[in-house]
This record gives sequence, C-alpha cells and structure tokens, in this order.
Amino acid sequence: MDYLEIEGGARLSGSVSISGAKNSALPLIAATLLSRTPVTLKNVPDVADIATLCKLLQNLGASCKKLDKNSLTINTSTVNSTKATYDIVRKMRASILTLGPLLARFGHCEVSLPGGCAIGQRPIDLHLLALEKMGAQIQIKDGYVVATAPNGLQGARIVFDKITVTGSENIIMAAALAHGTSEIINVAKEPEVVQLCEVLALAGVEIEGIGTDKIIVKGNKGELLNLKEISVIPDRIEAGTYLCAGAITNSEITITNCTPEHIIATLDKLEQMGFSTKIAQDSVTIFPAKEIKPCEIITTEYPGFATDVQAQFMALCLVANGVSVIDERLFENRFMHVGELARMGADIRLNGHIASVYGGKELAGADVMATDLRASSALILAALVANGTSRVHRIYHLDRGYEDIVGKLTSLGASIKRLSE
Ligand code: UD1
Repeated sequence: MDYLEIEGGARLSGSVSISGAKNSALPLIAATLLSRTPVTLKNVPDVADIATLCKLLQNLGASCKKLDKNSLTINTSTVNSTKATYDIVRKMRASILTLGPLLARFGHCEVSLPGGCAIGQRPIDLHLLALEKMGAQIQIKDGYVVATAPNGLQGARIVFDKITVTGSENIIMAAALAHGTSEIINVAKEPEVVQLCEVLALAGVEIEGIGTDKIIVKGNKGELLNLKEISVIPDRIEAGTYLCAGAITNSEITITNCTPEHIIATLDKLEQMGFSTKIAQDSVTIFPAKEIKPCEIITTEYPGFATDVQAQFMALCLVANGVSVIDERLFENRFMHVGELARMGADIRLNGHIASVYGGKELAGADVMATDLRASSALILAALVANGTSRVHRIYHLDRGYEDIVGKLTSLGASIKRLSE
C-alpha cells in the first residue's frame, strides 16, 4: 500500500491550479442516465471516485470513454441493467446518486444501500421519502433499495426535513423526467446543486428558483433529455485545502482556476485568523499573517462554513496563537483526525461535536493514518509544519478526491513523496 512521506518546515510559494469539483462531477455523471444523446464532460477531476461511478455506469451497460485526463464522453443509450451492486456502492456512498435517474428513466431499479461510513451514520431516508412522495414503491430487500414506479414518477410537493446535498440532487434528477411539476422545498443551495440544475435547464427542463431553497421543476413526462457538453465547476473544497496549505506554512501562494464566490466562508475565516487575501476573477492569493489568531467555526450548509474543510481548518488552528473552537453540526463522527493529529503532538479536546484546539504547541513528525478523505488532507497540512518526517498511511482515502496532490504540493515547494510500504 502506498503512503506519503512529508518533511516538515518548507515555506511554500507560487501558484496551483484547482481541479474540477468531484462533488459536482458525480451528480452530473449520474445525470447522463437522463440523456438520450452521449454527453461530454470536461474539467472532470482525475480521482478514484469518478472512476468508481464510471465503473458503476459501465456495469449497467453504458459506455464511458476517456478523451483525455480530464474529459470523458458517456453514452447511456446502451444501459441494459438497473442494478447498482454492493461491490461498487460500498466503495463510494455517492453511488446512491444513480437511484433517482434510474427510477425516473426505467420505472424500476435496485441500488445497494451504502451503509454507514467513517464520518457518521449517513442515512438516505430523506431520498427515499421524497421518491415515495413522487409515487415510487420502495422496499429494502437483502441490503438493496428496490424501487418501482410502474406508471412513472409523478411531480410532487417535497419538503426536506433536513438539507441534504445528494438527496436534493437525486430528487431534482427524478423530477426532471417525472410527469407533472415538482415543488422542492428546503433544497440544498450548494454550487454543485446549482450546476446540476443549470445543466438540466440547458437541456430544456424548466426550473424556477435555481440557487434558492425552493425550486420548481417541470418534468419532461418520461421523455429523455438532450444534455449538452458540460464543464465541471472548480472544486471549492480543494481550493480551501490549498489556501489552508498556504496559511499553515504562513506563505504567499495563489490558487488559480477557482471560483472565489464559492469560498466566501473559507476566505472570511482566513481573514479572521489574520491572513489577507487578494481576490481576482478566478484566482485568490493568500498572504502571510503577522500573527495567526484562533477562531470559532460552526460547520453548516452552503453558503455557511463547509464541513468538508473542517478538518483542514483544525490543522490550521494548531498553529494559531490561542484556543480555537470548532462545532461540527453536520456529521456526528467527523473528528476521526483528532486522534491522529494528537500523535503529532496536537492538543485537541473533544466534547461531543465540539472540539477545542489549543494552538501553538510544537508538532513533531509521526506515522499517522488517514481515516477519511478530508481527514487525510488535514494530516498532510499538519505534516507540512511538523518538525521532522511524517508518514501518512491509508492514502487511498486521499486518492478518492484529490487530483495529484503530491505533484501540486511539490510544485509549491513542499517536500512530499509517494512511496510504497
Ligand atoms: C454531500 C457531500 C459531502 C459533504 C456533505 C455535506 C457529495 C458527493 N458529498 O454528502 O462531501 O460533506 O454533502 O455538505 O456531494 N441526512 C439524513 N437523511 C438523509 C440524508 C442526509 O439524515 O436521507 C443527514 C446526514 O446524515 C447529515 C446531513 O443530513 O447529517 C447532511 O448530509 P447530506 O447533505 O445528505 O450529505 P451527502 O449528500 O451524503
């Protein structure tokens, strides 16, 4: 198994280009199930989660042709199975994104239940309730969601009890092909949800309220769509991660090919911590702070502070001058990185979903284990400033969502190598 070896202490400089958003590419790839015509996607990140979803579509009978490292064409006209099997779904929870489109298109499907994951229980009850509201009959059998809608899905009024990103995406895709109009209330407003709506709107689906918490989707009466070529939006989580790399090493770096508007909460928090930034149309430069101040963070839905950059900011708080408080509101178990950071000398005290991070303690290089995707990047960030050598193990988590992190950090001047055990 591969691991990363990082020598702490290097100052970073220069610029790094942000890849396309994994969390946008995934629903867009699932949305190709709604298309009559082949769809080309550009700016797709070259990461394992994308390969996993492509494999799932190929298992269903679709073709996914890679045009180059970051573009692919998907043709779903040849799909001849509607069963998303456990061996793939267990690798990636977002496979559940095929549920809405498969059911809307074929009137039946079986999608393996994703099960729990490292950061929490993560149920899909809200996806299922909404589909039932649209006329689906759903049973759980042998670990699978078995869904049928013999007369097609019907437009409905859906009120989400909680804001769910993939739940919203699933229902928007289902509503796009349904018979009648759907009103979806308390829908997620994340940029990835907005891009999905825009892609469907470009294919002729009438959608009102894009980017708000209430959208109205006029279904295409079971008729397949003609999705146009898509360019995936930049990854706001990767952008936040590299800004944290600049911040934790107190260096000046620039991230390019990003959408600053999507990372306002991240930029605001960096400013509260004493960093200044220069924002251009598609780039952000972060400058060193005179003093790195502690901060308070509450994770919440977009446009609030994203849970997906919580771990990276926790690493950053380790170099702040004082105690920071992080309140994780979205996932009940998203502090798995705390124990690993402690192996490097971090002083972090947990009380339920609240972490107090005592900054300013010396960090020392150590062997640490990645526990989930974003936790992996937090360990790398801490290793960048720890004294001596760190080795980050189980980096398959990292491969799921960060394109070429070793190459990108090396180009910024970090001392990082990928090695085999
Ligand atoms: C998506 C993102 C993930 C991010 C998360 C929150 C993708 C592929 N993944 O995950 O990176 O961390 O949003 O921003 O886009 N919930 C329920 N019932 C449901 C669905 C969700 O109780 O049916 C709860 C979850 O347990 C969690 C909260 O709602 O506490 C938000 O989860 P959700 O937005 O659904 O996360 P994902 O879409 O899985």
